[in-house]
Amino acid sequence: MLFGLGLFLLAGAIAAPVCPDPCAAIAGSLFSKPADALACLRSFPFNETLRQNVMSTVSRVFDFYTFENYYPKSTAPFPNDVHIRNGLSRINSTSYVTDYDFNRDLYRFVNQLNDGHTLWLPNCYVTWEALLPTPVVSVSVDGMEDVYIAPDIDEFISLLPDGFASYYESIDFNWKRLAGARVLRIEGMPSYEYVAHVADTVTGTYLDHGLRENSVFTSYRLIGTSYSQKFGDLAGRVFDPIEDLTIELIPVGESQAEIVTVPFLDVFLGNSFSDRDSYWANNCAANDNTNGADRRSKSGTPPSYTRLRAKGITRFSSNAIGLPAKFQPSLPPVNVNASEMFSYLLPDGVTGVLFVGSFQDDDHERFQRDVTATITALKAAGAVRLLIDLTNNPGGFISHFSRWLYLSGFQSAIRGNLLARKIVKQLIAQGISEDLSFYVIVNGRKDVTSLRFYDACPFSVPIPSLPPFDLTVVAIVTNGNCASTCALFSTLMKERHNTTIAVFGGRPGQSIEFKGVAGNQVLEWTDLDSEIKTAGLKNDPLAPPDLHNWRTAYSYLDEDAPIAYYSEPPSLRFPYTADTYNDPQNLWIFA
Ligand SMILES: *[C@@H]1O[C@H](CO)[C@@H](O)[C@H](O)[C@H]1NC(C)=O
Ligand SMILES: *[C@@H]1O[C@H](CO)[C@@H](O)[C@H](O)[C@H]1NC(C)=O
Ligand SMILES: *[C@@H]1O[C@H](CO)[C@@H](O)[C@H](O)[C@H]1NC(C)=O
Ligand SMILES: *[C@@H]1O[C@H](CO)[C@@H](O)[C@H](O)[C@H]1NC(C)=O
Repeated sequence: MLFGLGLFLLAGAIAAPVCPDPCAAIAGSLFSKPADALACLRSFPFNETLRQNVMSTVSRVFDFYTFENYYPKSTAPFPNDVHIRNGLSRINSTSYVTDYDFNRDLYRFVNQLNDGHTLWLPNCYVTWEALLPTPVVSVSVDGMEDVYIAPDIDEFISLLPDGFASYYESIDFNWKRLAGARVLRIEGMPSYEYVAHVADTVTGTYLDHGLRENSVFTSYRLIGTSYSQKFGDLAGRVFDPIEDLTIELIPVGESQAEIVTVPFLDVFLGNSFSDRDSYWANNCAANDNTNGADRRSKSGTPPSYTRLRAKGITRFSSNAIGLPAKFQPSLPPVNVNASEMFSYLLPDGVTGVLFVGSFQDDDHERFQRDVTATITALKAAGAVRLLIDLTNNPGGFISHFSRWLYLSGFQSAIRGNLLARKIVKQLIAQGISEDLSFYVIVNGRKDVTSLRFYDACPFSVPIPSLPPFDLTVVAIVTNGNCASTCALFSTLMKERHNTTIAVFGGRPGQSIEFKGVAGNQVLEWTDLDSEIKTAGLKNDPLAPPDLHNWRTAYSYLDEDAPIAYYSEPPSLRFPYTADTYNDPQNLWIFA
């Protein structure tokens, strides 16, 4: 007996340090099992000092949040009964074991606001993304829409770095035979119900449920100068420690349903590390770039200017993988020398296609030149009408693209909280003027806002004296994942010019909008911090860190409604088919 116990103790001693460094165990690996990555993330104990710092920051950020008072009592088509202060106070008093657990709770809370402009994304914990080799699509086959494993997974997955496919080989899991399988149930739920569940618990981003569901599926997009394929939110997840999915499906060529359990594999996206301490130092600890600068002083580095875009992390699943060659357009591009946009003349010889991947080229002036050159080239090639593809466009800068099509901006306003008013007062004292003295009633509460104002957009590239295309012959196609500036653009086209907009995909029988995270200007913490420092208010006790969504635009069709809360379904709605789900050229010809 004693001897046995002795052995047991000895075994414990050999395993010591009783907790071996779980980060060191996976350092240097691009791919890791979700449980191993989670062990590293959960190796940092909960720290009350950090919580108090985070909570006071987050609370002051929400003082600027334009939609705070829209959430309680918000109803169809965007029901979401969240009381922000109640949620924060719950998180402020909950017991957590690890720092990860606290941050994850806060992430989930902010994510369920379904506003892609307003997120809690601590660099520390969005370092791994869980990927599944079986992304799904919703397509119509013989007139019946259903969920299928994407038929192209063999070509798609083979574009991932070494280590992904070989992991599944090493555990003898054959995902290739699942390509194109019809999915009956996921995690025991009917497939579309599980899609709705992911839309509610994972996706966030969009007030509209239909748009969130469409984000669950894999789809094509354009990044920079390359076509890409997103995994979709079923198969690519951050901050979601999921290990596998149990899927009931019927493989192609079979008639019997079977149940398979597909494991996730995590891909590392953070800064490299060798152990737990260097993980924290390189991915978690605040550094010189965390804060803004006083723009009045020469030594203060001027931070980046404010951006209109959907905030997000660099997701491997959305950004890093190409679209299989068989889906890339075979038509020659009309202007080959442009970033963020591709242009084609369809075989009818009259329809120009402009696929705009985003409005946010890092080089703002280059984007303006590219729009000019591309539209000029399309006209020279013979295009007399224009189809604009806004699929999976995350936004960017509104100004130049809209001006080319002769669009005006929206009325907009910022929230006039006490600190905002102090900033304005200080700026006036220093010679810059703007006044704040308006309010709106939202859900029965008085919300102070600034006066409404329009944008003044600087242009460095000449604009033609007439619109290049008659706006009655411009149409838009999208999967509705058209965020931020993209949503402003499509909403302007719809509200001002009655442009035909067609949305593809989504769940059959469920409504869908053509835009999401519409009509807000967002700031990151460094930008706001600079604003506060420049106004000389850094020591004000109200001064917060990180901020998003601080200015909102109002619909032309209802000047009391922020665009985000004004429901606008598309003129036309189509399911994807086996020909169009990932094939932009087929989709344009169909449109
Ligand atoms: C909590 O975090 C603060 C700030 O990083 C640090 O100074 C303190 O030592 C930490 N407390 C514990 C118990 O680790
Ligand atoms: C969190 O709770 C502490 C007391 O434990 C309180 O001092 C602080 O103001 C609270 N913070 C927020 C944002 O509610
Ligand atoms: C390509 O586009 C860039 C950016 O607009 C421009 O500076 C360059 O001159 C163009 N090159 C050609 C060959 O047209
Ligand atoms: C907008 O276009 C639709 C066709 O897409 C047409 O039926 C409708 O009358 C138009 N509305 C206005 C206000 O021009």
